[in-house]
Amino acid sequence: MTLMPWERELAPIAERLRVGARTTVLTGAGVSTGSGVPPVRGDEGLWRRYRPETLATPAAFQRDPGLVWEWYDWRRQLVAGCEPNRAHAVLAAWTRHDPTMRLITQNVDGLHERAGSERVIRFHGSLWEVGCWDRCPSSPARWSDLTVPFPVLPPTCRYCGGLLRPGVVWFGEGIDPTVLADSEAATACELFLTIGTSALVYPAAGLVARARERGAFTVEINPDETPVSDHVDLVLRGTAEAILDAIEPHSAAR
Ligand code: APR
Repeated sequence: MTLMPWERELAPIAERLRVGARTTVLTGAGVSTGSGVPPVRGDEGLWRRYRPETLATPAAFQRDPGLVWEWYDWRRQLVAGCEPNRAHAVLAAWTRHDPTMRLITQNVDGLHERAGSERVIRFHGSLWEVGCWDRCPSSPARWSDLTVPFPVLPPTCRYCGGLLRPGVVWFGEGIDPTVLADSEAATACELFLTIGTSALVYPAAGLVARARERGAFTVEINPDETPVSDHVDLVLRGTAEAILDAIEPHSAAR
């Protein structure tokens, strides 16, 4: 039997999980690539050759809401046809078993929730939520809308008939203060795993450094190098689905 190089490195994680160490996990697009959701960056993730930074902004929406909605409607259709993978399933088992575990995701695809994860901290919102672009007084800040595909683009606000916007956080927009506070609180942990994120987008990318500063044992799981690779205690170079599958038998969730 040939062992993957990372299979010899699992002991420090396994030990901590076995004794129920307080654990926080931060995930990015890489946990969903195994489900067929393309990553946000890289050629594979591009939609009609647009970079996300040019479409995921309030200015882009103001300029051409139809184009931005075409992109989100395409992503909603794509994700609706995908299933959670083993990485989502293992994390879901951990959150259900251990109420102190915190799962923070930058993903907007909803696959953690579909796998059964509880208390997910959605750092960048959700593809499955919408809001009124004009923040009309009768509408809540965000509400769930699972329509896929939308019959007419751009869709309109059910409260005022104005424009609807995707319930995600765009470049240049602030993170919900409650989400920021919950994430900061979650960095007070003993084990912090950063999984499948290019660690380029702040403030999410800063959480692992904060956790380490506060004494956590920090681990990166990613087949590729990222800016945080040199600043964590352990790097496991492989896919989220393979590595979490290998770690799971060692966890207290068994
Ligand atoms: N397992 C683990 N990691 C993987 C896998 C896999 N199977 N496949 C790819 N990766 C890694 C890539 O090497 C890359 O480092 O996942 C990372 C995905 O990076 P991005 O596409 O940049 O996604 P992410 O870090 O989540 O982006 C952050 O940027 O566009 C904004 O708001 C958007 O939430 C998003 C944020």
